[in-house]
Amino acid sequence: MSPFVAIETLINAQLYNMFYEKNQRSVHDCAIAVIIFNYGRFMLQKVRQCQVKNMGGIAVVYLDHPPVNALSRSIRDDIFTLLTAFKDDHAVKAVVFTTTPDLPFSAGADIKEFSGPMQGKFFLDFYHAIKDLNKPVISGIRKYALGGGLEFAMIGHYRVAHQDARLGLPEVKLGLIPGGTGTISLPRLVGIEKSLDMIVTSKPVSAADALTLGLVDVVAEDDLEATCIALANKVIKEAKPLVMPLHRDRPSIPSPDYFEQKRALFLDRYHGFKAPERLLNCLEACATLPLDQALSFETEQFIALITGNDSAGMRYAFFSERLAAHIPDVRKEDARTVQHVGIVGGGLMGSGIAMAFINRGFTVTCLEVSQDRADACIKLMQKQYEKSVSQNKMKDTEAQDRLSRFKVTVQIEDLSVCDLVIEAVFEKLDLKLEIMQKLDAICGEKTILASNTSGLDLNQIAAVTGRPDRVLGLHFFSPANVMRLLEVVRGKSTSSATLATGLQVAKQLKKVPVVVGVCPGFVGNRMIFKYFEQLEWLLLRGCSPKQIDHAIKTFGFPMGPCEMADMAGLDIWVYSTPGQQTLVHDFVASGRLGQKSRSGFYDYKEGSNRPHPSEKAQILIDQSAEKQNIRPMKIDDAAIVQRLLCALICEGLHILDEGIAQRASDIDVIYVHGYGFPIYRGGPMFYADQVGLDTIRSQLQDYKSEAPKQWLISPLLDTLIAEKKKLSGYKRA
Ligand code: COA
Repeated sequence: MSPFVAIETLINAQLYNMFYEKNQRSVHDCAIAVIIFNYGRFMLQKVRQCQVKNMGGIAVVYLDHPPVNALSRSIRDDIFTLLTAFKDDHAVKAVVFTTTPDLPFSAGADIKEFSGPMQGKFFLDFYHAIKDLNKPVISGIRKYALGGGLEFAMIGHYRVAHQDARLGLPEVKLGLIPGGTGTISLPRLVGIEKSLDMIVTSKPVSAADALTLGLVDVVAEDDLEATCIALANKVIKEAKPLVMPLHRDRPSIPSPDYFEQKRALFLDRYHGFKAPERLLNCLEACATLPLDQALSFETEQFIALITGNDSAGMRYAFFSERLAAHIPDVRKEDARTVQHVGIVGGGLMGSGIAMAFINRGFTVTCLEVSQDRADACIKLMQKQYEKSVSQNKMKDTEAQDRLSRFKVTVQIEDLSVCDLVIEAVFEKLDLKLEIMQKLDAICGEKTILASNTSGLDLNQIAAVTGRPDRVLGLHFFSPANVMRLLEVVRGKSTSSATLATGLQVAKQLKKVPVVVGVCPGFVGNRMIFKYFEQLEWLLLRGCSPKQIDHAIKTFGFPMGPCEMADMAGLDIWVYSTPGQQTLVHDFVASGRLGQKSRSGFYDYKEGSNRPHPSEKAQILIDQSAEKQNIRPMKIDDAAIVQRLLCALICEGLHILDEGIAQRASDIDVIYVHGYGFPIYRGGPMFYADQVGLDTIRSQLQDYKSEAPKQWLISPLLDTLIAEKKKLSGYKRA
C-alpha cells in the first residue's frame, strides 16, 4: 500500500491516536510513522527528524533537526528509511528534500559524532538508495548547505538554492576532506580547479555563483518550496533521463603537471596541515579512477584524517570556540542594544577597533586630542577603504556608506550619546583613569564604558567611575579589524547585563569572545610573559633567535617568539615588566626596539619586515650572559619547543586554579585565535593532554629543580593526574 494512501485511510484510526494524540506529534510525523509502520522494518524513533508532505505525488521531506540540521545518525537513518519507502510507492513521483523557512538546509555531518565509531547510514547508502529509487530527487537549499549537507544535495539529481543561500564544503577547517562523495561529485559539476579552490579555502559560494558554476540548477527568488515542486513537475513531464552528478563524466585535469604543481605549492602554503594534500589525492583520483575506485579512495583518505590527532585538535577548537561564548550566569536576553560606539584614541589600535565596528554596521565617533590628529585619523581611514576598493574587496558605494558612519571629534561631550565607549589610549594607568572619570561624568546613565587595556587592573579603572557595574574590558588584538580574538574582561563589579552586552557586541563583530578575569596581562599576555621569560633563558644559554624561531615555527606557529617580540615592540615588554632587569632591557637601552627601530632580535632593512640575523643583537645577548655568568649549553629544537610550551601550560594551570579563565578550552581559544598556536594542535591545554599530564609534570619538575622561583607548579596538575582527568576538559565548578 502507498504510504500516502495509508496516511489518508489511517489518519483517523488507531495509528493517529497512537502517534498523534498520545504523543502530541504533528500530522507529518504521523505520516512518517505510517510509512514506517507500513513497511514494518524500522523503529519509530528513527524518523523523528523528517516531516513529509504529499504535494500532488511529490513527496516533500522537511529536514527538521534544529538548530543547524546537522546530519546526525538519527536524521541520516530517517532519510534512508524514507528513500527506501518511496522506492516501491507508485504514488510518489519525485522527492524534494528541503526545510521550513526557519531552518537551514544543513550544516553537514554532526561533528560531535566524529569522535566515536561511526554508526548508521552514510552517504554511500544515500547514493545507492537514490540510484535504486530512480525517481527525481531535488534538494531545496535554504540559508546554507555545508559539508555533508551539500554532499547529500549533490548525490540527488537536482539542486534549487534560495537566492540568499550559501553552499560550501568547509571540512578542511576541521582537518578533514569532504568524505561523503563530495570530492567526486563537486568536480563533476564545477571542474577540478573550482572544486579545489572551494574546498581548500572552505569558502562557501553564493546561490548566484553556484548557478553560474553549475552547482545548482535553479535559484529561487522567493518561494523555494514552490520552485522545487515546479521543477519536479517539469522533470516528470519531460521524462528526461535522470543523471546523478556522480554518474557524469570524469572531470578533465587542467594541465599535465597540475597536481604536482599544487602539491609543491601546498607544501609551503599549508605547512603542517594534512587535509590539503589528501584533498589533492582525492581530486586526482576523481579525475583518473573509475567511480567505485575513486569513492573507495575518498573513504580511505577521510578515515586516515578523521582518526588522526590533527582533526581531533581542530574539532576540539571548533567546539571550544562556541563553548567560550556560554557563561553560566549570563543571560543573552539581558544584553543592551548597542548602535553608536565611541572610541577614545584614533591611533593604530583605536582606528582598527573603529573599522571593526563600522564594517559591521555600527556608527562610530572617535575622540582625538587635537584637530591635526583627528584629520590624520580620518585620512588613515579613508586610505584604508580606498585601498579595499582598489583591490576589488569592496564597492565604492559600500566604502562611502561605511565612512559616512564614522566621525572624529575633539570634544569629549560628543561621546555622551554613545551606547558604548571604548578607551583605546596608550597603556598608562593614570591616563586611563583620567579618561574613565571624564567619560563617566559626561555619558548617559546607560552607557557602558570599556577599556581596551591589555593587562592593567580593570577593577581600579572601574572604581574611578560611578558605574563600576557598567564597566568591562574589551581587549582587542591588533590589527583589531582583522584579529578575531576578543578578551572580554569581567571586573569584580561588572554586571551580568554588561557582560551579556559585551558578548553580544562581540558576536555582532564576528569576533571570538572569551571571558577572562582580572590579573596582570589577563590570560593571553600573562602566559606570554612566561613564554618570553623562557625565551630569554634559551637565548642566554646560546640558542640563537633564528634557531628558536625555527623550532617553534616547525612546531606550527606562524611566527617565532623573537619575530613576535620584534613585531610587538621590545619596549612594550619592558613597559609591562616594571622593576625587572632583563635581557630585553639591554636591547631597549641600546635603542633596539624591534621592527619599529629596524633592529631588535633581528635587523630589518628599510621598508621591509623581513628579519635578518643580527651580529649586534648576538653581541648584546653574549654580553648579558657573561655578566650573569651563564655558560652556553647544547639545546636541541625539541628541547626548545618543550620548554616554551611548558611555560604556557604551567601558567595556564595557575590561571585556571585562580579562576581567571573558567575553562581550559577558553585558554586554548585565546592561544589559537590570538597567538597563532597551531589549530591542529588544539591549543596549549589540549596539547598537554596529547603529551600526557604525567610527562608534563615530570618536565616541569626538572625545570623547577634548576629555577624554583620561575617554575611554581599549580596543585591543579596533581589533582587532575590523581583523578585521571583531562586538562582540556577542565572547567571550574
Ligand atoms: N555538527 C554538530 N553541531 C554543529 C554543527 C555540525 N556540523 N554545526 C554547528 N553546530 C552546532 C554548534 O556547535 C552550536 O552549538 P551550541 O549552540 O551548543 O554552541 C550550534 O550548532 C550553532 O552553531 P553556531 O556556529 O553557533 O551558529 P552560527 O549560526 O554562527 O553558524 C554554521 C552556523 C553552520 C555556519 C557554523 O556552525 C559552522 O560553520 N558549522 C560547521 C559546518 C561544517 O564544518 N560542516 C562540515 C562538517 S564535517
